[in-house]
Amino acid sequence: MQTIALSYRGAQTQVPAAWLRLHCPCEECALIDIGERRVLVAGPSDWDLASVEQGQENTVVTWRSGHVSTYPADFVQLMQRKANRRRWEPQLWDTSHVVAEVRHDDLMSDAEVRRRALLDYRAHGLLVVRGVPTSGVPTEDFFDALRIPIWEGPFGLRSIDTRVQAVAYNVAETAEALPPHTDLAGYEWPPSGQMLHLLVNDTTGGESIAVDGWQALHSLRTDEPEMFDVLVDVPVAHRLFSENRETFARAPLVRLDTEGAVSGFRFSNQTIQPLPLDEPRLAEWHLAYAELTRRLLDPQQAVSFKLEEGDAYLTHAHRVLHGRTAFATGGDRCIRDVYFEFDNVLALVDQLTGELF
Ligand SMILES: [Fe+2]
Ligand SMILES: [Zn+2]
Repeated sequence: MQTIALSYRGAQTQVPAAWLRLHCPCEECALIDIGERRVLVAGPSDWDLASVEQGQENTVVTWRSGHVSTYPADFVQLMQRKANRRRWEPQLWDTSHVVAEVRHDDLMSDAEVRRRALLDYRAHGLLVVRGVPTSGVPTEDFFDALRIPIWEGPFGLRSIDTRVQAVAYNVAETAEALPPHTDLAGYEWPPSGQMLHLLVNDTTGGESIAVDGWQALHSLRTDEPEMFDVLVDVPVAHRLFSENRETFARAPLVRLDTEGAVSGFRFSNQTIQPLPLDEPRLAEWHLAYAELTRRLLDPQQAVSFKLEEGDAYLTHAHRVLHGRTAFATGGDRCIRDVYFEFDNVLALVDQLTGELF
């Protein structure tokens, strides 16, 4: 492909013609006010060059199609800013991690508190919010205030209340300890954010536990790379159901991004389904799953914290596992789950940090 020399950081940089054609800044090619592109680039006939005129202020490119594009001197710089937006590294943690905590009222009233809390939430995938109102429309008001849309399952549920029940629907409705897990693994794409909000608590015990699943995967990948690979490659089904609800999805436990970094994780032992016996890596998968389980249950991986009535915590739900210790039976306890997409948290962080280009 032909390239055109444009200035960038005080030097001439060779830029591919198709890149320049796609991002032509003219009014014909872009809806300038809206910030969207109109031009569609479908092949070499769109980016074949007729002539290039290098000027002090700008570079004028005439394409063989007849279209003329004018690129200002800082064009590559502006495009590189966009191209490198939102590059951030997750910070992995174990039991020594001090979980970020914020008061609900400070979060809502102070933009700087909000910015710092959400940056920490983005980096660690975990944030405790103390004193979230339990009046009004509990939990939902919180998301309305932050303008984060709530995820709705196919059953129209915007929140799920878990109380101790005489006839339990799942282990969460008993007073038993709940080992760390992610929710809704019966979806191909489970909601990637979760808030657990303690609405009522007349019991003792029941500490909340969180585990950085990405840290456990990082250690597994370092120590046992073949085990890690089998968890990336082999899909396994999860099912969560009741009398009138059904979810089922088959997917690997670990998802990688295009650079090979972990970008998604599910771990829901209570809802896992059998692998087919003709799966070629059946035994290897089970060895890897057992090793991963051992690491996730290692007390050195978990942080624990006590919620009081009104307190909540948020997780990046494709990363951080939640669970709880057992609590005393007899009193009432109600925790409300609300799900959302972590994408909307990332966008909110961009707004708070001004990374909007
Ligand atoms: Fe859960
Ligand atoms: Zn144009």
